[in-house]
Amino acid sequence: MNYIVTGGAGFIGSNFVFHMLKEHPDARIICVDKLTYAGNLSTLKPVMDNPNFRFIRADICDRDAIYKIFEEEKPDYVVNFAAESHVDRSIENPGVFLQTNIIGTATMMDACRKYGIKRYHQVSTDEVYGDLPLDRPDLFFTEETPIHTSSPYSSSKASADLLVLAYHRTYGLPVTISRCSNNYGPYHFPEKLIPLMIINALHDEPLPVYGDGLNVRDWLYVEDHCRAIDLIVHRGRDGEVYNVGGHNEMKNIDIVKMICKELGKPESLITHVTDRKGHDRRYAIDPTKIHNELGWLPETKFADGIKKTIRWYLDNEDWWQPIISGEYQDYYEKMYGSREEV
Ligand code: NAD
Ligand code: DAU
Repeated sequence: MNYIVTGGAGFIGSNFVFHMLKEHPDARIICVDKLTYAGNLSTLKPVMDNPNFRFIRADICDRDAIYKIFEEEKPDYVVNFAAESHVDRSIENPGVFLQTNIIGTATMMDACRKYGIKRYHQVSTDEVYGDLPLDRPDLFFTEETPIHTSSPYSSSKASADLLVLAYHRTYGLPVTISRCSNNYGPYHFPEKLIPLMIINALHDEPLPVYGDGLNVRDWLYVEDHCRAIDLIVHRGRDGEVYNVGGHNEMKNIDIVKMICKELGKPESLITHVTDRKGHDRRYAIDPTKIHNELGWLPETKFADGIKKTIRWYLDNEDWWQPIISGEYQDYYEKMYGSREEV
């Protein structure tokens, strides 16, 4: 079977490529990635020489390039990870989010319609449901929760989801969608909470917690997400949405304190800074559907996953050191230089 995996040089996409090559030795994986600031070819070094793997640099919005890839590779499955993924960047510059996340998704599905496909899978996010209040721990996102977005990022992902479902209903395209909670693990780009805090703490630099730090995210180890997608792609029902999450809600501030403790760094590094605009308060997934239909359950407990992740960043400085020099420094100054301590 041939699989096109878009965004496979990013965090979750690369972990999915590794998962597929390991778990499905007969699978041929064609990774299509534009290599934006978030895509990193060095991440894919371990599989570059694998005869079942091919890397193609292309933009998912580039219709000619995408059609050519379909003609050459005749994929059976497409798994679309490619996206602009960082909420803070979407607040600064929404345009590229609309382009890649919406137009790119439509372009990939047009190719699937034109050339035929067994399954198009859209990797979506729990952020399409908006947020839940902190004082209602009894509430969770189910697949029936109305779409109610907060940021340009989540709005672009929700728009893509609507298009995917429309292509299913209108053209009969065999699609599935997964909506997962926050992932963590190896190869997580250092602009996101967990890797940013690990790397800043290692350098004894301030740990910038937005607002009161009481916002809650529902963390899932990346390999558990990859297993869920694998199951949905092969055994999920056409036209269905599956929520993915492991009932692991944590306050941001508690995560940052845990990282300090694990690294033996003082909590005095924690600095409360100006809050994110429109900051979602709480995400919490109800994963009953994927559990009942596909037997999926998370395997990695947060206490173990965060230790493994910290260990990975300690052992793989050669991966993140080049990333945090150069362009990243300009980004950091722009995003954090103007955030006041609160
Ligand atoms: P990431 O930012 O680490 O990686 C995105 C990848 O997409 C990069 O390799 C980048 O080069 C590539 N890309 C961007 N624009 C492209 C384009 N126009 N054409 C081709 N490639 C392009 O993102 P991630 O955190 O790995 O997220 C992957 C997917 O999972 C996204 O769709 C995201 O919305 C979704 N998601 C992420 C999380 C999370 O916690 N990170 C949770 C749920 C869902
Ligand atoms: O829920 C799934 C989503 O999780 C994905 O769809 C997104 O692609 C992914 O980036 C992630 O979004 P978040 O906004 O939740 O992740 P982020 O790591 O940016 O932030 C996590 C929380 O930490 C959030 O409440 C904001 C806060 N935060 C973040 C940064 C970068 C801080 O307090 N300080 C920071 O410096």
